[in-house]
Amino acid sequence: MPESAPKPLLTIDNLKTYFFTDTGVAKAVDGVSLVVNPGETLGIVGESGSGKTMTAYSILRIVPRPGRIVAGSIRFRETDLLALREAEMNRFRGRHIAMIFQNPAFSLNPVYTIGHQLGEILQQHEGMSKRAAQERVTHLLKLVGINEPQTRVKQYPHELSGGMKQRVAIARALLCNPALVLADEPTTNLDVTIQAQILDLMQQLKEQFGMSMILITHDMGVVAQMSDRITVMYSGKICESGEAQTIFDHPQHPYTEALLSAMPRVDSPQHARTSRLPVIPGTIPSLLSPPAGCRFHPRCHYATEECQQKEPPLKRVAGDHYVACLYRGE
Ligand SMILES: Nc1ncnc2c1ncn2[C@@H]1O[C@H](COP(=O)(O)OP(=O)(O)OP(=O)(O)O)[C@@H](O)[C@H]1O
Ligand code: SF4
Ligand SMILES: [Mg+2]
Repeated sequence: MPESAPKPLLTIDNLKTYFFTDTGVAKAVDGVSLVVNPGETLGIVGESGSGKTMTAYSILRIVPRPGRIVAGSIRFRETDLLALREAEMNRFRGRHIAMIFQNPAFSLNPVYTIGHQLGEILQQHEGMSKRAAQERVTHLLKLVGINEPQTRVKQYPHELSGGMKQRVAIARALLCNPALVLADEPTTNLDVTIQAQILDLMQQLKEQFGMSMILITHDMGVVAQMSDRITVMYSGKICESGEAQTIFDHPQHPYTEALLSAMPRVDSPQHARTSRLPVIPGTIPSLLSPPAGCRFHPRCHYATEECQQKEPPLKRVAGDHYVACLYRGE
């Protein structure tokens, strides 16, 4: 790393998160390495089941059973997250690293009012008085565009629309001013106009709060619009990563190429926001018995016999641009 490069906020090295199911071991995250620098948004993109959510859950150590982190390291600033005791990890969650889930129901507890549950987090994590906590909650609700926050704090999550709930979930994530926000498909369940508003809001808040973000999405338009760097995942592995502009202009991995060439033309911001991850011919490989060699070979136009045997390592293309294909890179 050059002297002038910023120290990463988060460094994941060779992370492996496996699911030990009755039918076998599903290698959901299989040797993922990535960094997130201060203030940047890293977009993670890939088809369903490629391991995006489990990568985020691994960072927060909330992988559900029968899943388990079996190898690798996750460093946040100077702290090795995988070495923390559960009580210490709990202090990290929400405070330094917060998550916005695809389904706001995961972020919000249905049995408490908005004011109560958000205030409680501040009282617990920040040791705030009840009154100071309520003031901050109201302030944040206003920031995320909720009118009449004094009324909203008395309401229960079910009394709010989907878009409103996701705004509250964003406010919840920002409560303790985290350095890193993990946003997992934060707008997937919302209609297009609301999606656009929420994305604008997230972008604006990210700049205002100076935080870093990992944005997980199926949506190439959202990635293009929001990310500084991109990591493309396929079947539990990274197949390409680099600066967003470089990946869009000069994709190296055949999978990234396929994703981009199948993407509708992005001529307007509105269009960009609706271009879902395109369908690539072929089926997503099973993680229980992935194809040998390069996992993409059954769907790859360039596949050779070698691809069926040899697993491609992640190689540097140039600078920060990496690709895992036998015939691309260095
Ligand atoms: N509860 C579970 N039990 C068994 N296996 C699981 C479980 N949750 C996830 N997995 C395995 O981990 C893989 C990756 O899941 P993950 O949720 O990370 O995918 P994803 O990329 O987020 O997909 P999506 O875009 O659909 O959200 C799944 O394909 C599955 O094999
Ligand atoms: S290693 Fe072979 S199968 Fe894999 S992406 Fe490259 S050319 Fe395609
Ligand atoms: Mg997911």
